[in-house]
Amino acid sequence: MRIAILPDDNTIGKVAADLIEELYRAKPNAVLGLATGSSPLPIYKELIARHQAGKLSFKHGKAFMLDEYVGIPNEHPERYRNVIDTEIASHVDFPADAVNGPDGNAPDLHAACAAYDRAIKDAGGVDLQILGIGSDGHIAFNEPGESLTSRTHVGVLTEQTRRDNARFFDGDIDQVPTHCVTQGLGTIMDARRLVLVAQGKGKARAIKELVEGAVSAKWPATIMQMHPDAWVLVDEAAAAELELADYYREVWEKSR
Ligand code: F6R
Repeated sequence: MRIAILPDDNTIGKVAADLIEELYRAKPNAVLGLATGSSPLPIYKELIARHQAGKLSFKHGKAFMLDEYVGIPNEHPERYRNVIDTEIASHVDFPADAVNGPDGNAPDLHAACAAYDRAIKDAGGVDLQILGIGSDGHIAFNEPGESLTSRTHVGVLTEQTRRDNARFFDGDIDQVPTHCVTQGLGTIMDARRLVLVAQGKGKARAIKELVEGAVSAKWPATIMQMHPDAWVLVDEAAAAELELADYYREVWEKSR
């Protein structure tokens, strides 16, 4: 894994955006994996700025979202599809229908999950997947105990995750859906490059486990240790529990 301990959100956004810009220069029809939540917002801000400055175009690109709530009304602002439109898709030049998300309102959710995996495959697979991490170590909505090889599936949101996400629902956990449709860990691991971002002390334990813990379904993000091209971009607070922080800093500085 490539581990970068960075001073602030702006730098995290810039380092991730450099990787994405490099990808689209080499492959204009690249497939980007989009995450929702607050962690990737500095990346989206930077991508929008570069697009507006004429440096970056998504006009031949495609994107796949990681996950979606089940049973949330289509027009709800916290429906992940709407959040992605608000935070990034509507500000850049992805063609109409180029941004795909799992359908949390499909009449047959299991069939919709299988169709989503097929759609990712038919698009040639995800070239670069942006990821955040939950305080319990989840990526997408793969909660502790999840199969390390799962495909897109219907999942249960734990109380911890619903509590973490209540801030998007007027602070009311009862408004947070209880189920989701999520790419599985196996689906995520198929992406050619993974770029996980985390900020703040609430993520410090999860980042310690991700980088230095044993690979285990107890901390689902640890599966990333098995990926040949995984990047972990964190701020000082999220890096606070890393035992080998000085080593990672040295390697990062010398590899640039
Ligand atoms: C969102 C997602 C989740 C979040 C995680 C962290 O699409 O898949 O895994 O990345 O819950 O959320 P934030 O970034 O809001 O702390």
